[in-house]
Parts: sequence; C-alpha cells; structure tokens
Amino acid sequence: MVAQVVKLEKPAHSTLPSPAPRVPPQKGHVLINRVAVIFGRGAGAHAAVEETSLDIAPGEFVCLLGPSGCGKSTLLNCVAGYVAPTRGSVTVDDVPVTKPGPDRGMVFQQYSLFPWKTVLDNVAFGPRVAGRHDGEAIARTFLDMVGLSRFAKRYPGELSGGMQQRVGIARALANYPSVLLMDEPFGALDAQTRVMMQENLLRIWSEFGITVLFVTHDIDEALFLADRVLVMSASPGRVIADLAVPLARPRSPEIATEDAFIRLKRQCLERIRVESMRAFDQMNQ
Ligand SMILES: Nc1ncnc2c1ncn2[C@@H]1O[C@H](COP(=O)(O)OP(=O)(O)OP(=O)(O)O)[C@@H](O)[C@H]1O
Ligand SMILES: [Mg+2]
Repeated sequence: MVAQVVKLEKPAHSTLPSPAPRVPPQKGHVLINRVAVIFGRGAGAHAAVEETSLDIAPGEFVCLLGPSGCGKSTLLNCVAGYVAPTRGSVTVDDVPVTKPGPDRGMVFQQYSLFPWKTVLDNVAFGPRVAGRHDGEAIARTFLDMVGLSRFAKRYPGELSGGMQQRVGIARALANYPSVLLMDEPFGALDAQTRVMMQENLLRIWSEFGITVLFVTHDIDEALFLADRVLVMSASPGRVIADLAVPLARPRSPEIATEDAFIRLKRQCLERIRVESMRAFDQMNQ
C-alpha cells in the first residue's frame, strides 16, 4: 500500500517561503513568572533555580546557556510540565502549565525513542494518541522533512545517533507544538553532524514560526541559532545576562568568523567563565 502523504498543516501564523515567516507568529508565547525550584525538604533541600522571570515572544529562538548543574534542564522542565515550580508559574499562550501537553514538544539529549517501535510508529505515536486517523501520513511528512523517509520501517537501534535525534525532532513536530523545548539535543553528536542538525533545525524553525527554547553548553551553538541568549549563573541558577543576537538570517556556519559574532562570543565567555569557575568550586565543596 502506498501511504498517503498529508500536506503540512502549518499553524496559521506560519507562512512559507523560508527563511523567515512573513506574518509574525501569534502562538508560542512563554511567560515564566517568578519561578523558583527547590528539590527536597528541610536540611536536604536544594535550590535548583532561583527566582526567574522570562518573557519569550511567539516565534522567538532562545538559547539557555550556563554551567553544568545550574538549573537549565530544571527550568526547561518547568515549561515542559515535568517539574512543578516551588514558587511562581509558567504560562504558554496565557494557559498555566500544569503538566506536559502536545502544545510543547520536547527533544532530549539522549535519544528517547521507543526502541520496540519502528521509526514511522515512533513519529506517528503522538498524532495517534491524539486520536488522529492520519498519524502515519503525518509521520511520513515529518520524516521527509528531516530527511529520513527511507528509514521509516527501521528500528531506532539500527540508526546512528544523529539519525535518531532527527527522528526525535520529527516526533516532537508531529504534534504541531507551538513551542519546541530542546535539552542539549545535539550534545552527543560529532561536530559535522551537529552543524548539519543545527542548519536543519533553523530551516524547520523558519518554516514553522515555532518558538524554540534550546539548552546548550556551547556558546558557538547558542550564537549560531538564537535570536537571544540567556546566560544562567552557577547554582542556584538565575538569568544573569540577556543578550540579543542581531546577526542576519539565514545564517551559515561561516558566520562564526564575523566580527559581530566574535564580539558576542567574547561577551558570553566573560560571563560564563566566572560562573563556570563558581560551579566547579561548588561541586568540590
Ligand atoms: N529531580 C531532582 N531531584 C533532586 N535534585 C535535582 C533533580 N533534578 C535536578 N536536581 C538538581 O538540581 C540542580 C540543577 O540540575 P539541572 O539538571 O537542572 O542542571 P543543568 O543546568 O541542566 O546541568 P547540566 O548542564 O549538567 O545538564 C542540580 O544540582 C541537580 O543535582
Ligand atoms: Mg541539563
């Protein structure tokens, strides 16, 4: 049987052609309002995120940069609905986040695919759970978008790390989220694959006009991708710098050699260096 391939139902706010949506996106407004996260109680209590407020505009690409253990994943998980803030609240398009939902797609560092399902069934899973009868067609469309149509019937264990991560992105997009949350998604990939994945992600982002909140340790990655880079302090994390990245789009990897890029990198490095040393000292205490 030849599977039907659905026409992409992009959100109303997203218009082709690439690279930039002509109409500003209207969905995917993330508001983090005085969020603080403390794990545990009493003497064992550990403050993971200090009071943090952020306003992320629909369609914005924001990178969260900070030393290990500073609370990046915790903050991302508050937006995803996996972690409930101890204080404060998160809303997406004015709806309070209380649990995970299909409006927020998540891509993890470790490929978190169902190993017993084919690539196609992994991507079709979300739409099928949502009761859509055209889950397979949606999955084929998104697999095509990440360049993996030929591997639809394979199992995750038969794919390379980069390919599995592309399946992860296709799976997150198949729910038509308004926000894509990515936790060091390319951290485990080799340098070449990583660059290719970054370019692929920017293309998808510009086509869909989706809001992206992307966690990384890598300053070059953050500056290549983002409209805005948020630098977090050592634990307990709070945002200590909010840098606009006014570099022209579409971007190619050569942008890393431009003066404006290097200037921004220096600003990030200065802020990160102090915080990384603090984080290292904390872990030794
Ligand atoms: N479920 C949990 N229970 C208790 N403590 C936790 C939990 N999750 C995270 N922490 C602690 O909260 C702090 C922040 O962790 P988090 O994973 O958010 O850091 P991170 O910035 O993502 O680090 P990395 O860059 O290494 O991934 C750490 O000290 C961690 O040990
Ligand atoms: Mg993390």
